[in-house]
Amino acid sequence: MEHSIALVTGATSGLGHAAARLLAKEGWHEIIVTGRGLAGAQQAAAQLAAETKRQVFTPLELDLNAPTSVQSALAELVKRGRPVDFLLLNAGLVPYKKRVLTAAGIEASQAPLIGHHQLTVGLLRANLLSPNARIVIAGAEPARGGVPLFSYTDVPAFAAKHHQGDQTAAVEALIRNGPNVKYVPNRAYADAKLIIAWWTAALARRLPSGMAVYAVSPGASTDTKVVRSAGPALKYLFIPIVNLIPGMNQTPETAARRYLQASEFGTDVSGQFFASAQGKFTGPIEAQLHPHLHDGANQEAAWQAVVNVSGVNFEPAKPASPSAPPITKGPGGP
Ligand SMILES: NC(=O)c1ccc[n+]([C@@H]2O[C@H](COP(=O)([O-])OP(=O)(O)OC[C@H]3O[C@@H](n4cnc5c(N)ncnc54)[C@H](OP(=O)(O)O)[C@@H]3O)[C@@H](O)[C@H]2O)c1
Repeated sequence: MEHSIALVTGATSGLGHAAARLLAKEGWHEIIVTGRGLAGAQQAAAQLAAETKRQVFTPLELDLNAPTSVQSALAELVKRGRPVDFLLLNAGLVPYKKRVLTAAGIEASQAPLIGHHQLTVGLLRANLLSPNARIVIAGAEPARGGVPLFSYTDVPAFAAKHHQGDQTAAVEALIRNGPNVKYVPNRAYADAKLIIAWWTAALARRLPSGMAVYAVSPGASTDTKVVRSAGPALKYLFIPIVNLIPGMNQTPETAARRYLQASEFGTDVSGQFFASAQGKFTGPIEAQLHPHLHDGANQEAAWQAVVNVSGVNFEPAKPASPSAPPITKGPGGP
């Protein structure tokens, strides 16, 4: 891919900021960096320019909780009229101790996916992704399973119990954190990242043939602000203990490098979720082969739920097949 224009969401701190810095160092011509407010985005752009000594950062206001903000950002990008080669959908958060819903009634840690969906579909519709564009969205190891304190909801069982087996309704309930969903912050986060993995697979089936999308976990990197909203047990007990265990933490640069690595992957592994090996939270990324991630019905249910909640659909000329894509190991595999 020609290193031309990248767009990084959530670049005001942590991994988005580190990724934008790495992209500049790797010679990208322009990096659009977003913040919830224009002042924050401008500050991030200025800081990144000072850090890298490159004047390649363009600030863009983007609050993923607010559809009007996504629309304004899209209008700005349409006005510029230059297609994006690398769309890095990084923004996200570990949610609050108490349940927080956005004005649109979406649970806070699910909201970035809804905004990212609106942004991505808007760019696709406006022809503002280059023919070989790469899209990377931030996933996390809890979607894979095997993460203490962060287990995801068994969606088929939840659908059977509360939604007459309707998995789309079940995923929609998780995105809105109700009805029939007890708020457990860590589970909400695990569910948000699982739905991201499913959405990624469904989007891959709808993209034009040269483009590709991957969900990528940056892995554990606790020197960011990711748990700033979480409860004290996670912030002041769990994370400090985890930091003492070798291999449980990595620098933001090392974590952000995973996004850049994935941006070089081929279309053959489009739609897959890349994360640390089972039982690990750092180290090389590999395509995740767990059956729950490759269930075509869950993937399409997640897509439809996101469409319902966001009010935005995207269907290619040829309808997407609901069957799961073939499972192939990615270039990051062992
Ligand atoms: N750090 C880790 O250990 C780790 C592990 C696995 C996955 N991840 C994922 O990596 C991504 C980046 O996290 P991080 O560690 O860099 O955290 P961070 O330092 O808190 O940065 C998150 C960024 O996302 C932005 N953001 C969050 N919600 C937003 C929204 N609704 N609208 C617009 N911007 C929003 C934040 O903006 P504000 O400052 O304005 O809130 C901030 O710029 C997240 O998706 C996270 O889930 C992180």
